[in-house]
Amino acid sequence: MARILPLEAALDPALELLEAGQLVAIPTETVYGLAADATNGEAVARIFEAKGRPRFNPLIVHVSDLEMAESIAVFDEKARRLAAAFWPGPLTIVLPLREGHAIHPLVTAGLDTVGLRMPVGFGRELIGRLGRPLAAPSANMSGRISPTSAKAVDDDLGERIELVVDGGATNVGVESTIVKVTPQEVRLLRPGGITADDIGAALGVAVARGGAKGIEAPGMMASHYAPDAAVRLEVSQLRDGEALLAFGDQRTSGAERAVATLNLSPTGNLREAAANLYAHLKALDAVGAAAIAVEPIPSGGLGEAINDRLRRAAAPRDAHPQPE
Ligand code: TXA
Ligand code: MG
Repeated sequence: MARILPLEAALDPALELLEAGQLVAIPTETVYGLAADATNGEAVARIFEAKGRPRFNPLIVHVSDLEMAESIAVFDEKARRLAAAFWPGPLTIVLPLREGHAIHPLVTAGLDTVGLRMPVGFGRELIGRLGRPLAAPSANMSGRISPTSAKAVDDDLGERIELVVDGGATNVGVESTIVKVTPQEVRLLRPGGITADDIGAALGVAVARGGAKGIEAPGMMASHYAPDAAVRLEVSQLRDGEALLAFGDQRTSGAERAVATLNLSPTGNLREAAANLYAHLKALDAVGAAAIAVEPIPSGGLGEAINDRLRRAAAPRDAHPQPE
């Protein structure tokens, strides 16, 4: 098992490990990240190794301030406006790499663009102290549920990493929104903690969707965020032996027969539902039911990210043996 340290005690040990090219699991406002110095190729390679990530997808680069961000990528007017509106926060902006940047090519999978984000809280402080950016995917084994608590990280990766920094439960609960900014448009690559509407409103233009090619869309592999149990979506009738992931105050028919029930948000609040999503999936998975039945969740606002993750959790696993 990894060492788990509270925030107050974690800064110096975390810095020491990162300086030595080792990994540290850190809290962010979205999910826990498995962090390494983004300028150190061996350190970054350890991320893929520890996660058992079967292919080198590009990783998000986390920065502490705008100056660091602009030393890595070229910001245009739209990108600056997004950073001003949403950083620090759960928004990743994909931009052209700047000449002379120090990011190791393993981080960007050899692309000429980079995904940048400035996290809230401990991570940002850590990066500021380190003086270098951190690459950090979610701190879980490849294809599994993203961790929203230090214990969830330890359960999954505890044998493979030395230190988990415990910042309590994350408050957004789903990964950052990823947008790609080009001179022509701002395109949504992954729905997440900031809604497409918020982004559109900040820019005064609509956010483009869909049509992203190849690696550009994260989790192109449909199966992702997968619990051991099968996942059945939009249920209107519970089947025997199922656990129930509920939403709102109206129960699906047969709900009383559920092996276990957890409600993402009894009041139907999407923010609360996002924050509870991964922890509830993990808890229902632990019950050992054959399937987790999920009640319908509205698709607007944060519902887009929640439904995106649930669809990946429910996707056939065999058809996609190589999830991110
Ligand atoms: O909330 C989050 O974003 C979390 C926390 C830990 O910060 N991090 C996270 O990182 O989800 P990660 O590395 O799992 O996200 C990587 C996704 C990839 O699947 C990839 O598709 C997208 O970000 N990405 C990264 N760089 C990209 C690029 N240059 N172009 C397009 N997509 C990129
Ligand atoms: Mg992940």
